[in-house]
Amino acid sequence: MQCRVAVLSDIHYDRAACDDGVQGCLNGRALLTEAVHYLNACIAPDLVLVLGDLVEAGDTEAGLECLRELRPALDLLAAPVLAVPGNHDPAPEVFYSVFAAPPAWLDAGGVRFVPFVDPEAPEFNAHRPVASLDRFAEARAGFEGALVSVQHVPLFAPGACDCPYNYTNAEEILRVMNACGAGYAISGHYHRGMEVLHANGLVSLVTPALCRAPFRFLEVRFSDGAIAVQGHALPPFHDAP
Ligand SMILES: [Fe+2]
Ligand SMILES: [Fe+2]
Repeated sequence: MQCRVAVLSDIHYDRAACDDGVQGCLNGRALLTEAVHYLNACIAPDLVLVLGDLVEAGDTEAGLECLRELRPALDLLAAPVLAVPGNHDPAPEVFYSVFAAPPAWLDAGGVRFVPFVDPEAPEFNAHRPVASLDRFAEARAGFEGALVSVQHVPLFAPGACDCPYNYTNAEEILRVMNACGAGYAISGHYHRGMEVLHANGLVSLVTPALCRAPFRFLEVRFSDGAIAVQGHALPPFHDAP
């Protein structure tokens, strides 16, 4: 089993400044286009995960326009794309009027990716409804490969790291995932990203924001029960003076 996945997150296409406050350091279109060409030419993944906060403007007409504007760049990806919305994106029904609605799961290279679009919780956390937890057992039925939970907000064992964002019912989610042998979670949202975390039977990945210097994304390889994660960075972009 060999699977190579690229993970882009937190493009914030229409953001006016980086997280560090450097004005004008972003050019969303150039950044995304460069990332797409880099992925096609240098990584050739089996799948590209786009994990939310594609835009900054939220559930507004401007947000919808930005989604429509950036989609052609993602359409240039040679690999299939699995996209989930983040808290800065338009509402899911609007988001999925621009992007294809995600399937219950998507298989790539012998790995099964299960996308979740969960409601927000206070303080930029998230909550996974109990009814959605059944999806792990459904995805596991008749499938023996790696199962990956895919979402915008980080998911990890509470207290296992200092990331300030998590699921308010992470313990409950982990219990279900452990019971189903779902051993991986891949997220975005926390712009600085974090080291690969192994805790309570779950390997948690948090993808750094593409919109934040040094403009990073992840390459994740699954191979015979092991996972290898490599960070990549694009050259910095500056708006023309
Ligand atoms: Fe974000
Ligand atoms: Fe976010």
